[in-house]
Amino acid sequence: MDSKMYKLGMIGLGTMGRNLLLNMADHGFPVAGYDKDAAKLEMLSKEGLNKPVKGFALLDEFINSLTLPRVIMLLVPAGKIVDAVIDEVQPLLSAGDIIIDGGNSHFTDTNERVKRLEQKELHFFGMGISGGEEGARLGPSMMPGGDIKAYSYVRPIIESIAAKVNGEPCVTYIGPGASGHFVKMVHNGIEYALMQLIAETFEVLKTGLQFDNKKIQQLFSAWNESRLQSYLLEITANIFAYQNPDGSYLLDQIKDEAKAKGTGKWTTQIATDLELPIPTIDQAVAMRDLSKYKSLRVEAAAIYTKEDTTFEINTNDFVKKLEDAYYFSMINIYAQGMHLLSKASADYNYSLRLGEIAKIWRGGCIIRAAFLENIYSAWKKNPSLSHLLLDEDVSTIIKSTEVAAREVAVKCMAAGIAIPAYTSAVNYFDAISSAALPSNLIQAQRDYFGAHTYELTGKEGIFHTTWNKAVESK
Ligand code: 3PG
Repeated sequence: MDSKMYKLGMIGLGTMGRNLLLNMADHGFPVAGYDKDAAKLEMLSKEGLNKPVKGFALLDEFINSLTLPRVIMLLVPAGKIVDAVIDEVQPLLSAGDIIIDGGNSHFTDTNERVKRLEQKELHFFGMGISGGEEGARLGPSMMPGGDIKAYSYVRPIIESIAAKVNGEPCVTYIGPGASGHFVKMVHNGIEYALMQLIAETFEVLKTGLQFDNKKIQQLFSAWNESRLQSYLLEITANIFAYQNPDGSYLLDQIKDEAKAKGTGKWTTQIATDLELPIPTIDQAVAMRDLSKYKSLRVEAAAIYTKEDTTFEINTNDFVKKLEDAYYFSMINIYAQGMHLLSKASADYNYSLRLGEIAKIWRGGCIIRAAFLENIYSAWKKNPSLSHLLLDEDVSTIIKSTEVAAREVAVKCMAAGIAIPAYTSAVNYFDAISSAALPSNLIQAQRDYFGAHTYELTGKEGIFHTTWNKAVESK
């Protein structure tokens, strides 16, 4: 009865998979879902009541229910499970069928899967999806890359379920190979750094200015109505509003040890491989890791007791400076992420259109923010812009916030409040905008101890010096 009638089949009916499927059904597409877990099937049938969606417990029935060529989306945890699912489903498929991996797979795994499935005449493409549970249900931002023909085939479904900004869908074909998963990984790297920046802001407000949760909530809400507007600020304000029935704050009861699923770490690893600095994203990954050493931190805190960390300062003035510093740091975080994308684009031949990527990040995704409009416009004006900080409008903002960013960094460092996202943003900015760096000395040191040679300014060639001769002859 259900033979070849569903336009798309979802494998993995966790919240993301289920919500995406319901989103498709809401847009009029008959869709099917498959999961071994009966409870998830049950939830799909409840939530999908009176919608063109059906869950299957048997894989062959699910496969046979799909129109040809079949379109199967995987929403399963990244790693070995993706391969296990592909191995299970692949013998039941026919040449020309399409598999979409909508999870957070490592882009190198996606490359391997494309090659492996090409031999079976199956189309496979990776598509980063951001927006969390709510985004999946109401409109995510999506980053499909790879097999463009396969993407074109499913494009009407994908565009219809995407978040919309000014009527335009927050999805675009990203580029060849695993570029979709690569771009999603960098999106998450940016996300880690923005989250760390907000967490540090919380620390400054709490420890430096003695703000209580209510005042912090009010400030974040106000910031979210300004140029700092972002989804992450919005949910943070809501977190500060959440009280238990006894009036206590849930946030105050949560352990200060941050976990991660790995995409931030991958971003840092790949950036190192590509020799492209993203220090604020690195710091965000490092701080999540550092937070896990709770007992060590407690032991060290007992030895290195801090003097009073409260600022003797005009609170209103400092909050204004903090707002500038936050904006400055946020811009530097996006700048680092975009720079990594442009390097990957060149090294992996992705031909990424950075303006289009910023455009589809304006809605639906976790890093959506008012400032994405500025990034979009920077690359729209100049598609070959080599760095966000070189854009004239961005440089005007940076110049107007730079002094405050320094003042906030100095104040917090003097008080012993750890703000590595804020300080790394200032350091990154200072280094990337330095016409001269002391790296000539590093070259001299390398040549001294390892005869690694050096190049000279204004003279072609590779040089080596026996440096200690000068010392010995004295
Ligand atoms: C995402 O945004 O895709 C992930 O949910 C990030 O999860 P993590 O913070 O656990 O790595």
